[in-house]
Amino acid sequence: MRFGHFDDSAREYVITTPKTPFPWINYLGSEGFFGLVSHMGSGYSFYRDARLRRLTRYRYNSVPNEQGGRFFYIEENGDYWTPTFAPVKADLDSFECRHGLGYTRITGSRKGIEAELLYFIPRGHNAEVHQVTVRNKSKEKRSFKLYSFLEFCLWNAHDDATNLQRNLSTGEVEVDGSTIYHKTEYRERRNHFAFYHVNAKVSGFDTDRESFVGMYNHLGEPEAVKSGTSKNTVAHGWAPIASHRLDVTLAPGEEQTFVFVLGYIENPVSEKWEKPGIINKTRAKQMIEAFSKPAQVDAALKDLKEHWTTLLSRYSVASRDDKLNRMVNIWNQYQCVVTFHMSRSTSFFETGIGRGMGFRDSNQDLLGFVHLLPELARERIIDIASTQFPDGSAYHQYQPLTKRGNNDIGSGFNDDPLWLILGAAAYIKETGDYAILDESVPFDNNAENRASLMEHLKRSFDHVLNNIGPHGLPLIGRADWNDCLNLNCFSETPDESYQTTGNRVGRTAESIFIAGMFVYIGPEYAALCERRGDSAEAARARREVASMEKVVLEHGWDGEWFLRAYDFFGNKVGSQENEEGKIFIEPQGFCVMAGIGKSTGQAVQALDAVKERLDTPYGVVLVNPAYSRYHVELGEISSYPPGYKENAGIFCHNNPWIMIAETVVGRPERAFEYYKKITPAYIEEISDLHKMEPYVYSQMIAGKDAAKPGEAKNSWLTGTAAWNFVAVSQHLLGVRPDYDGLIVQPCLPAEVPEFTVSRWCRGTTYIIVVKNSGKGGPPKLVVDGKPVDGHTVPYAAKGKTVKVECTV
Ligand code: GLC
Ligand code: GLC
Repeated sequence: MRFGHFDDSAREYVITTPKTPFPWINYLGSEGFFGLVSHMGSGYSFYRDARLRRLTRYRYNSVPNEQGGRFFYIEENGDYWTPTFAPVKADLDSFECRHGLGYTRITGSRKGIEAELLYFIPRGHNAEVHQVTVRNKSKEKRSFKLYSFLEFCLWNAHDDATNLQRNLSTGEVEVDGSTIYHKTEYRERRNHFAFYHVNAKVSGFDTDRESFVGMYNHLGEPEAVKSGTSKNTVAHGWAPIASHRLDVTLAPGEEQTFVFVLGYIENPVSEKWEKPGIINKTRAKQMIEAFSKPAQVDAALKDLKEHWTTLLSRYSVASRDDKLNRMVNIWNQYQCVVTFHMSRSTSFFETGIGRGMGFRDSNQDLLGFVHLLPELARERIIDIASTQFPDGSAYHQYQPLTKRGNNDIGSGFNDDPLWLILGAAAYIKETGDYAILDESVPFDNNAENRASLMEHLKRSFDHVLNNIGPHGLPLIGRADWNDCLNLNCFSETPDESYQTTGNRVGRTAESIFIAGMFVYIGPEYAALCERRGDSAEAARARREVASMEKVVLEHGWDGEWFLRAYDFFGNKVGSQENEEGKIFIEPQGFCVMAGIGKSTGQAVQALDAVKERLDTPYGVVLVNPAYSRYHVELGEISSYPPGYKENAGIFCHNNPWIMIAETVVGRPERAFEYYKKITPAYIEEISDLHKMEPYVYSQMIAGKDAAKPGEAKNSWLTGTAAWNFVAVSQHLLGVRPDYDGLIVQPCLPAEVPEFTVSRWCRGTTYIIVVKNSGKGGPPKLVVDGKPVDGHTVPYAAKGKTVKVECTV
C-alpha cells in the first residue's frame, strides 16, 4: 500500500494523506541553519548544533506524536482547523504534502478555504521562511482568523528538557509590532537571539504558552484559537512562544499571501543592546527586509532549486528503469547531503542531544557526498582529523559547534582511524587536490601538537599495526564498525554503557572485519605515498597489506565463510562452531571487497553462504542465527531481541558491501537483486509494512527472526545512504573516479540493457553511453571515437565534454 507517489519532474514525493504509518519528514537547510519538518508541519529548527542552539521545541516520543512544530490555525465562527491536519485533526476536504529538495509544501482545505504552507531555508540566511497562502474557493465572502504558532526552545535542548527548576524562570521576549523576539539568556552570556516575524499588521499576538493554549488544554484546541481572540501576552518565564493573529477577509476566488520569518541573529558583544534591556535589532530588521515580499520568497526558492539542479547534474543516469533513475538522480544523493550535514545527530529517531558527528560515520558519509560539494568535504576531513590522537586513535564523536572531541564516549573504537584514509582518498580521487595532504592538522585540537594530514594518515595506518592480537589480526578495542560487538565489555550492570565500559581490558579480542578494512583501505594509503614520491613507505604499506591478507586466510577463514572475530578468550565469533551467531555479514562484505580469496575461491564461497543464510525477501540480515539470549562476552549485540538492530536485523548500511562484493566476483544479477530489495523506490508498494519514508533509506529493517519482518525504523541518518550511492553509482552503473582517470566498469544484469551516465568530475563532463549484455565482464571503451585499453578514461582538460561508449 502507498500513501503518495513520486513526482520526478518536480523532484518531490507527494504524500496524499496525513495518515502515514509514521511522520514522514524532510530536512530544510544546507549551510548553518537547519530544520526538520514532517508532513504535518511538526519538527524543529536549530543553528548548526541541534543540542546547543535549538530554536524551537519539540517533544520526542510523545502522545500524540506531533508535539511541536510551526503550526498555522484557521478559525472562522467557532470552527477551527489546521491545514497540516495535526494538531487540531479536524476533517480536511483535501490534503497534500510535497517534500522537495530542501523545502516542503503542505496544502490543506476545509469548507471552501484552502491554505498552502511553504517551508524552506533560503540559501545564505540563518532563517526559515514560512509562506502561507490562503484562498477562498467558495462562492461567498469569507472572514477568518489565521494564527501562527511555535514554541521556543531555551537554546540548549538538553537543559531545556531537563532543568525545569531554572528554565521556567528564565524565558524572556520582546514584542515589536509584527515581530516577536526570543531573548532568553541574552541578558547574560548569549549574544544570539531568535525572532518570528510576519509581513503584515497583526490583530493580536501571544508569547505566553499557557495563555494561548490554556491550562489543561493541548495544541489541538488552544483557548485563544477556539475563542477567536489573542491575549496579547508577554512571557516572563514559563514557556515563551510566538503566535501572531491575522484577521483576513477574502472575496470569492481571492487569495492572500503572508510571509513569516523565523530568524537567528548573532550580535557582536559590543553591539548587543539598543538601550538597556532592549536588544539591538538592526541585523534582524535587515533579514526581515530580505523577505518582506512574496517575490523575494519566490526568488529564494528558485535559487534553492537551481542550486540542487547544479549539484545533481554532477552524477545522473538515464535508463529505462524509473526507480533506478529517481533514486540515483534525486533521492539517494539528497539523503547523502543530509547525512553529511547531520551525521547521526538529529532525526525523528536521533534526538539531537545525544551524539554529535561520528568519526567513522562522517568519513563514510563523505563517500556519497564528495562529488557534490568537495570544498565542504575538504573542511570536514580536516575537522575530523583534528580529533585524532597522536597515536592514531581517535575520538569516536565530536560536537559540530565546538568541533571538539566528545569525552563522554572517548576513543578506542579500533576501526575509526582507517576510515579517515578512505575519506581522504575519496576526496583526492574526486578532486586531484593532493595539497590537502600537506595541511597542518592538530592532534586532539591542540594547536601546539600538529602534523601534516599525510602524517595523520600514516598514524591511522600504523594504529592497526601497533594493535595486533594473538593471531596477528587487529585488536577490536571497544568495538569496530559494529558498535554492539563489545568483546571487552562484560557488563552485568544495566546502568553501564556497552560502548564505554571495558571491564576486562585485554589485548586478545580481534576483528576480522578490521583486517578486511585494512586490506581494502591499505592500498589507498600506499597509492597516496607513491604519488607523493615515497616509494619506500608505499612498499612497506603493500607488504603489510599482503601479510594481513595471508593472516585473514589463515586465521580468519572458517571453512565456508569469513569469521567475524576472536573474543576475549580467543574463542571464535561468527563460526560454524558457535551455537548462535554463526555467520556475520560484515567480514563477508569487506573481505571480498578487498579481493581476499578472489583467486582462491573463498570470496565466492563466502558470498554464497551470505545468500543461503543471511538473505531474506527484505534484505540481508546482519547475523544468523540471531542471539536468543544475552551473551556477556559479546555485549550489546545480544541485548536486542532477535531480528532487530545489530542482532539479525537487516542493517541496511552493510547490504551495499555485499552488492559491491558481488560485482567484485562478477555477478551482476545478485548485486542488483540485493540493491532492489532495500532501495526505497522499489519497496514503495509495501509502505504500510515498511512504515518509514519511501524516498529515503532507513538504518534498519526488521529481519527474519523479528515479529514483523520488513518493518523499518530509524530512517534518514544512516551510512546506508552513502554506501548505497557508492554501490549503485560506482559499482553497478560502474563509474568512479580514480587517481588518474574515471573508471568505467558497469556490472548490471540484462534487465538494464542500456543507459547513459553523465558524470562531472574535475571540471569535465563525461557522457557515458553503455550497452549492457548483462553478463558482466570487462568493458570495451571508446573515448571520443578512439578505442581505449582497460577500464579507465583518462582525465581530460577542464571544460571539455568527453563522450564515452562502453560495451559490456
Ligand atoms: C550506527 C552507528 C554506526 C555503527 C552502526 C553499527 O549506525 O552510527 O557508527 O557503525 O550503528 O553498529
Ligand atoms: C546502539 C545502536 C547502535 C549504535 C550504538 C552506539 O547500540 O543500536 O546502532 O551504533 O547504540 O550509539
